Amino acid sequence: MARRGGRSGVPVIVSVHSGTLGQAIGGCRLAPYPDWRDGLTDALRLSAAMTAKCAVAGLPHGGAKTVVALPPGTDLGPALRRAVLLDVGDTIESLGGEYATGPDVGTGPDDMAVIGERTPHVFCRPVGAGGSGDSSRPTAEGVLAALAALAPVAGRRFAIMGLGRVGAHVARELAAAGAELLVTDVDESRRQLAAELGATWTDDILTAEADVLVPAALGGVLTAATVAGLRCAEICGPANNQLDRPETADLLHERGILWAPDFVVSAGGVIHATGVELRGETPAQATARVRGIAGTLTTVLESARRDGTTPLAAAHELARTRINAARQATMAA
Ligand code: PHE
Repeated sequence: MARRGGRSGVPVIVSVHSGTLGQAIGGCRLAPYPDWRDGLTDALRLSAAMTAKCAVAGLPHGGAKTVVALPPGTDLGPALRRAVLLDVGDTIESLGGEYATGPDVGTGPDDMAVIGERTPHVFCRPVGAGGSGDSSRPTAEGVLAALAALAPVAGRRFAIMGLGRVGAHVARELAAAGAELLVTDVDESRRQLAAELGATWTDDILTAEADVLVPAALGGVLTAATVAGLRCAEICGPANNQLDRPETADLLHERGILWAPDFVVSAGGVIHATGVELRGETPAQATARVRGIAGTLTTVLESARRDGTTPLAAAHELARTRINAARQATMAA
């Protein structure tokens, strides 16, 4: 559904993709879009990816996403930001619990607290406000588990694209583990972190020679054009929707570059938040389950190798199997 926020006048788009496995979940993205319909396209794709993410992670949840499509050049001061978030909260509340949101690109725990003024169906409010807090650390833990599942990280060279909240955690841990780092960010002030970690800043991360490329910024970075120029052996990172279209997975396969599906790698945030907030797990238990992403990725890559398909196809197959089993169980009941 898409509606103009009553307070803010800004388009709020909610896409609930699937509820077969349980309550639909997916973060709230706050970003400028040339046209609100571009936000709609993004919401549809991102919500479908959330369905696959939850199914592959073995969570009893379906996928959804909220996109607040800001008109380009919007000056999102504190008052308008608050109005937008309250509008989001009302929209989610109107769905009666069918969907619960969380943080995403452009939002964080404090924003979740504001949404929480209008609806209980929100994850990752600050710990002091009754939530499980920032999801970027558990997401990074999941990425690190996935990277370690590929090969021991010490001495390997990683090209990290994006030093935002998740990318920075990943970079710190990899540096501490003895990896060699190439990094970049659209925000030049992140050069300071790069220097701190002894990482090499490069403006050409997509053509950098590396063992592993770690996309940790916005999606759509893997296209026919960028894949042709890649000089990495593997790609494994948390950015959502890294492929511009599904067929790009075939191009990567043909080039012999291993692509760890983003929706497998990036599930740490949802595994942790739903475990702690809905299922009574301690943070330690939830973190242990986040580390299970290593085993999930290994399973996906092994079945791709065995069947001669792409990791994308193998991961989708795993998601489909789980969703179909749930559908059959519902029909039998
Ligand atoms: N941005 C998160 C993701 O893409 C969404 C999320 C995090 C939803 C935590 C709920 C809880 O997975």
